Amino acid sequence: MAAGRVVVVGSGIAGLCVALAAAPRAVLLLGRAHRGASASALAQGGIAAAVGAGDCADAHARDTLVAGAFRNDAPRVRALVDAAPGAIAWLQSIGVAFDQDHGRPRLGREGGHGAARIVHAGGDATGAAVMAALSRAARCAAHIEWHEGDGDVDALLMRGGRVTGVRLSREGVLLKADTVVLATGGIGALFARTSNPDGSDGAGLALALAAGAQPRDLEFMQFHPTAMDVGTGSLPLVTEALRGAGARLLDGNGNALMQGVHPQGDLAPRDIVARRVWQARHETGAAVLDARAGWIDWERRFPTALAACRAHGIDPRREPIPVTAAAHFHMGGVATDDLGRTSVPGLHAVGEVACNGVHGANRLASNSLLEGVVFGRRLGMRLAQVAPTGASGPRTLAERGPPLEGEELVRLRTTLWNAAGPVRTAEGMTAGLEQLAVLSGRGWQAKLAEAILAAALRRGTSLGAHWRGDSGVPSRQAVGSRAD
Ligand code: SIN
Repeated sequence: MAAGRVVVVGSGIAGLCVALAAAPRAVLLLGRAHRGASASALAQGGIAAAVGAGDCADAHARDTLVAGAFRNDAPRVRALVDAAPGAIAWLQSIGVAFDQDHGRPRLGREGGHGAARIVHAGGDATGAAVMAALSRAARCAAHIEWHEGDGDVDALLMRGGRVTGVRLSREGVLLKADTVVLATGGIGALFARTSNPDGSDGAGLALALAAGAQPRDLEFMQFHPTAMDVGTGSLPLVTEALRGAGARLLDGNGNALMQGVHPQGDLAPRDIVARRVWQARHETGAAVLDARAGWIDWERRFPTALAACRAHGIDPRREPIPVTAAAHFHMGGVATDDLGRTSVPGLHAVGEVACNGVHGANRLASNSLLEGVVFGRRLGMRLAQVAPTGASGPRTLAERGPPLEGEELVRLRTTLWNAAGPVRTAEGMTAGLEQLAVLSGRGWQAKLAEAILAAALRRGTSLGAHWRGDSGVPSRQAVGSRAD
């Protein structure tokens, strides 16, 4: 039987990498209706790879495991870090111009890394640069048919327990496939404060769950410490690399936020810094990033953050930037193996929607674009070779269900932020579940939020980004230390 079509749902970094690597198999790439840039294109962090003098994959692996509170799948971490230098070389080969210093890649430092090992392109515009190169390559690839902007999928076609296609929400068009790959990104937009775009709302995860796919680690949501504190919803990120370049976090009284909390100070793993920022906002009314140091090269290294500050009337060279913790990255998702296979035949998942365990309980900075490239290409190469398995039996549809909108969606986001934000309590989560019960018959986002909150409630002790503050507002020491 000839290999048939692969449908890839989602055209961020992971989806594009799968699609490119799946040649010569025909790929139908479905991009979601445009609601701003994808999370990949917004990524201000870079790509972590042990390419610097004196650095090595072992050290990158160790930092990944420590940040992940050792919940990571160690062999997959190894696969990720070993593949990192090759991933950089491949991206260069398709036209990504990584920033250089005297002919060598310029390496930045971010939270949780014991060495400078982050490569960037266009300073803090790495995501945009990588997406531009991948998009160019995908548009030139004869095996890829790319439907941009009308690819919202609201159901999976099933036959005899196997996924055999997708249904587009627009006009209910049915598209058959031998293999469906979900590469739909994360869930940040289900929270009242997020660094993610509106489209990162868990739509793919909800589809997979509707088809009966096994979830994994749903409770592990990473909060970024420094989204710009300019309201609610999708907030501009202020990259961690600024702290790597010398910016410092202060509380509302002007005191250094991370002093005495962790040996890595402002560059402690992200979960620890995010909780301190959360706590400072509660206790002192504000947290700010002081990036006024004269040596910070804003124009060259941080053009994206600079533009975001200016758009909000802030001159970061003269005044501190108000910051808040914000939902940033979902370590949990659809359970997969290292080839992206879910528990449902015919359904694969890759990138943030998936959980193969590589990030453990807390992702290390700048490992997410890397994950998209490494595991996306791996899956694509596998699909290029694999012979399809036929499906038989009755046809069914696994439907995501109607969406929540307007005021109800705002209520859901507030509920999830309050109940499953950077600091969680049994009381808060129980109250959150009660509030969600009212919404859950009305929209798929509420059903998904219930699953996340129920998983969080089941985990009674703190681990990585899942922090239980049941003994009251945590002390400075408690938010800074690890319970693992
Ligand atoms: C950042 O630039 O602070 C975010 C990088 C990441 O999410 O890894």
